[in-house]
Amino acid sequence: MYKISVIPGDGIGKEVMEATLHVLEVINVEFDYTFADAGDEYMEKTGVALPQETLDIVKASEACLFGAAGESAADVIVKMRQELDLYVNLRPVKSYPGTKCLFDNLDFVIVRENTEGLYIGLEDETDEGAIAKRVVTRKASERICKFAFEYAKKTERNKVTAVHKANVLKKTDGVFKGTFYKVAEDYPEMELDDRYVDATAMFFITKPEMFDVIVTTNLFGDILSDEGAGLVGGLGLIPSANIGDSQGLFEPVHGSAPRIAGKGVANPAAMMLSAVLMLEYLDEYEEARRLENALVNVLQEGKVVTQDLGGSASTMEMAAEVRKKLEA
Ligand code: NAI
Ligand code: MG
Repeated sequence: MYKISVIPGDGIGKEVMEATLHVLEVINVEFDYTFADAGDEYMEKTGVALPQETLDIVKASEACLFGAAGESAADVIVKMRQELDLYVNLRPVKSYPGTKCLFDNLDFVIVRENTEGLYIGLEDETDEGAIAKRVVTRKASERICKFAFEYAKKTERNKVTAVHKANVLKKTDGVFKGTFYKVAEDYPEMELDDRYVDATAMFFITKPEMFDVIVTTNLFGDILSDEGAGLVGGLGLIPSANIGDSQGLFEPVHGSAPRIAGKGVANPAAMMLSAVLMLEYLDEYEEARRLENALVNVLQEGKVVTQDLGGSASTMEMAAEVRKKLEA
């Protein structure tokens, strides 16, 4: 029995969460859910977007399923990443049948360092303009590279590529690249590669099948993750994981989508695929594959899918179809 915290949040976050929990009911894993509040709606009622009680509930759980927040997203999700030291941001780039992808057979993963780099927020105004500091520590580089290799091993992938710009950012990316090759010594079976970030951005478009697991620093990972999302279709399909030493938080990449919220038309796939990442994190691989395959089945048939995928099904109708496949 896994202790799971659940934060539906705002807008379509609530709808895709309901759909995903409906499907998880027929997964052969026992979950003990604790629901918690965060987001715009909660803030309107109480004045705070992320109450301490919610943080405590998430800290006491093994994993958290998060829907989406609205305008308060920075105060909710960014704060949770910091408070829980969720130093890994994991984004799969996977093309699913029946969806509009630029390439048909993509399956790689981006592992982004989530706590330092250029996003550490050390900016100063100067007489001439402004200056930002980029922090790359050996400790953070080591744990992110280690995670990337361990993840590759666990998910039976065989190549890890470090992405950097060490020719220009000699000191900071020197540390990152050096640490990558040092950590790699513990994984002699793994194929290694390192690439400059600019060339990587091009190879995403020209030769994306060369990648398997990518590990990179914060800003580069942010940009490449969204480029990766662009390769494999719309926001309704892209899941993500934020992982630390004692928790994982799993969320779709999309937000609360106020324009379509409340209509029951949101695509639940990104949230369901986030649950797949959670099952992998809990080492429940068999059930992770079963859930993913059921969803792939529904996408491939293309009959009971939401509007963004060219169908006319509601969020819950699509969820019911995925559940039907799981029960078949
Ligand atoms: P968004 O991702 O919420 O929506 C952008 C557009 O993408 C929507 O209008 C919709 O057409 C489409 N879309 C997104 N998810 C979909 C789904 N599951 N099914 C079908 N179509 C989908 O991004 P936007 O509009 O920039 O932000 C809306 C709110 O969400 C803002 O208040 C923003 O702060 C918040 N946000 C929260 C995030 C989080 O909680 N992690 C992440 C991104 C935005
Ligand atoms: Mg981003």
